[in-house]
Amino acid sequence: MSLDQAVNSRNSVRAFRSDPVSKELLTKVLETASRAPSGTNTQPWQVYVLQGEKRVKLINEVCKVHDALALNPELAKEYPSSYNYYPTQWVSPYLDRRRENGWSLYSLLGIQRGEKHKMHVQHQRNFEFFGAPVGLIFTMHKDLGTGAFIDYGMFLQTLMLAAQANGLATCPQGAWVSFAKIVMPLIGAGPDELLVCGMSLGYADQQAVVNSLRPPREKVESFTRWV
Ligand SMILES: Cc1cc2nc3c(=O)[nH]c(=O)nc-3n(C[C@H](O)[C@H](O)[C@H](O)COP(=O)(O)O)c2cc1C
Repeated sequence: MSLDQAVNSRNSVRAFRSDPVSKELLTKVLETASRAPSGTNTQPWQVYVLQGEKRVKLINEVCKVHDALALNPELAKEYPSSYNYYPTQWVSPYLDRRRENGWSLYSLLGIQRGEKHKMHVQHQRNFEFFGAPVGLIFTMHKDLGTGAFIDYGMFLQTLMLAAQANGLATCPQGAWVSFAKIVMPLIGAGPDELLVCGMSLGYADQQAVVNSLRPPREKVESFTRWV
């Protein structure tokens, strides 16, 4: 697969087959990801690979709290995000794109406005790693600078493209930052670590309608100034 093919065929997959992924293949993908550049070669990434029992335990613990939060939103105070992945105050056009993305997903799944329970169930799929046999949690040292997030993004995209080129599918997941309080001790992360995001990884369920989502992109002219 050429790089262009990997980039253009990759999409966020939200339904996976249960087939396991070999440790050998995971290691190969992680090795390729580690070729990502980083400022002064700091390589800020720390990866936790969850399969089997640990994955199930994490899913159970987080889904229990996610359900409790739906019944009592006040509880959210007890689960602060590891960092502000999203802005506290949304501005246009980002809010519009975010909304369009959300509604495209819901309409594919037949979820109408106001169907809060169905939305909750769909959001909960995040915390089930969308059925993927491999859950990845990414952390970095808390004392690193903002630039480390740039480095991290490069690592994550390289990992997703390497996965794609090896027949695997992924979904990067910021959703996990809301549950750092549960995730970090469970994976054995230390107090100096910050939860950056999670990722579902496995073989895509090609039949699942949710995987047909192909969010559009702005045209080059709209984000480029030839000065
Ligand atoms: C850092 C990051 C965090 C994301 N978090 C989530 C998430 O929590 N749940 C989810 O379903 N998708 C998540 N996404 C996927 C985006 O919604 C997706 O990349 C975007 O809509 C473009 O679609 P595509 O990846 O299929 O091209 C995330 C993507 C990135 C890069």
